[in-house]
Amino acid sequence: MTAILVTADIPAPGMDILRAAGDVEVRAVDHAELFDACASGKYRVVVSQLRDHFDAELLAAASIAGISNYAVGFDNIDIAAATAHGITVANTPGVLTDSTADIAMLLILSTARRAVEADAFVRSGSFTGWEPELLLGSDVSGRVLGLAGFGRIARATARRALGFGMTVKFCPRPPADRVVSDSELGEFAGRVEHTSWDEIVTNSDFLSLHVPLSDATHHLIDAAVLEAMKPSAILINTARGPVVDEAALATALRAGVIAAAGLDVYEREPALESGLAERKNTVLLPHVGSATVSVRSEMARLCADNAAAMFSGTVPPHPVNPQAWTGG
Ligand code: GLV
Ligand code: GLV
Repeated sequence: MTAILVTADIPAPGMDILRAAGDVEVRAVDHAELFDACASGKYRVVVSQLRDHFDAELLAAASIAGISNYAVGFDNIDIAAATAHGITVANTPGVLTDSTADIAMLLILSTARRAVEADAFVRSGSFTGWEPELLLGSDVSGRVLGLAGFGRIARATARRALGFGMTVKFCPRPPADRVVSDSELGEFAGRVEHTSWDEIVTNSDFLSLHVPLSDATHHLIDAAVLEAMKPSAILINTARGPVVDEAALATALRAGVIAAAGLDVYEREPALESGLAERKNTVLLPHVGSATVSVRSEMARLCADNAAAMFSGTVPPHPVNPQAWTGG
């Protein structure tokens, strides 16, 4: 176990930190190559991307000490299997919270005000002058934003939405619930309403998803939930694609079951369900929640620090499963 495998170059200062820590091999790998690389005994740490899948079979065969995932999410890694095999997984929390909430707000505003459709209208030369009824959209202020989840990104989205005069409701662990005390609510006590998933689904003007992908949240938004939403409602997803049944969403958008959708993530990324790109009432972004120069650089620093620590035999600063650490 002598080297660090990096499946895609990460921004500065990431590569410099990694190269100072040990031998670095940068190599894009498909699943079979990742399997072989992890089993080879050649690598102590893998610096991975969300497109690299570490399933139970791969992790059982792997002889690596750690995985440093260049993301806050880690649904590409079977964490239980990693823990069972003493493989520590680390992520990049905190630094991308605001940038992802910005993208949620951008999708709220751009779907409500039809910004992408309007931009295409101008570019195509169709704009011939101000019209009383040109490209009318929906209000954002005074409308209800329902948040599925109330983690860091949901809270940052709530902060922005309150600034836009929205009424903010949240369900912390949809579709179930959990107790949230006023002290946990902190700055939001009295300013946002904790309510049931049912209430969020049926009464939101904008429903924004901020849950990790798990068995409990897979297809949280399915045909029945879409049916229960207001016909004027807009769905926003900056979390993970498979939280939404994308075929059901395409059908609902075509049939007018809901009004619009703003998506940054997709069920079978990078593939897109047919019927989404053809519609004017969708705004579609290519998974850019964390895509600012400074955020990607901070993610690279955290990711490289995690990898360097595990490579040198110490617990990484941001472990997902610290109980897996056995000293490498
Ligand atoms: C991006 O989706 C991330 O999890 O960082
Ligand atoms: C992700 O970082 C979250 O806690 O929302």
